[in-house]
Amino acid sequence: MATLTINGTSVSIPQGALLLRAVEEAGITLPTLCHHDALAPYGACRLCLVMIIAPYRALVASCTYPVEEGLVVQTHAPEAVQARRLTLEALMSRCPRSDVISKMAEREGVTASRFGMPSSGNADELCVLCGLCVRVCRDLIGAAAIEFIGRGSERRVGAPFNMHSDACIGCGACAEVCPTGAIRMEDRGNQRILQAWNTCITLSACPECGRFFAPEPTRFLKDMFPEIKACWNVCPECRRQKTSRQWLNAGQKTD
Ligand code: SF4
Ligand code: FES
Repeated sequence: MATLTINGTSVSIPQGALLLRAVEEAGITLPTLCHHDALAPYGACRLCLVMIIAPYRALVASCTYPVEEGLVVQTHAPEAVQARRLTLEALMSRCPRSDVISKMAEREGVTASRFGMPSSGNADELCVLCGLCVRVCRDLIGAAAIEFIGRGSERRVGAPFNMHSDACIGCGACAEVCPTGAIRMEDRGNQRILQAWNTCITLSACPECGRFFAPEPTRFLKDMFPEIKACWNVCPECRRQKTSRQWLNAGQKTD
């Protein structure tokens, strides 16, 4: 275990854990956008910056910094607060209509941005370029269907050549992890539409109720994981009803 001091509170945490976790253990919430417990540390958004004041001084991203015995950390040192506020101002300028960013900024005491129009030129922009969608698709799902495209103010996330992605399996993990709701996933009839990636995926129907629910390209999963094979073809609602019926029948037999 490593013992460190955060805002005057002593915290003990396993060696190798990230500073962000120690900060949370101390009951402090920092703004984060690019961090996800299921993914490797990345350090892109710079919102979780904290100041180490002993045994050395350093402004560090707490989501990538491993804890060390004896560290003394201040989350609200002027340098850390100023850096977080500056980043939030830039994000407010990039995504002026994002409620997530406005609320985050407000909590940090930022109500307006000194920067001008959105650098992307799109006032409806919601993507903060945190990279979570790219990393979950590549590192957890193994599909690598989307990537960063372009440079500078033109940088964005998309499918290669901005065309329908054959690699996308329609799992929706990207939409699930996106912190700002920038990725819309819509099921229309037998189609799952991921507009941001110009991609449509065919859904297969539940044999019991006829509802379209399972993306066809995810079928390989049932061969990979035999434990899900039995319930694969049936939609979650029919599965739930079936299980409830089984429980009720079992209960009646024991009465
Ligand atoms: S689309 Fe969402 S998850 Fe992907 S980079 Fe943009 S904000 Fe992050
Ligand atoms: S959450 Fe730490 S840099 Fe983004």
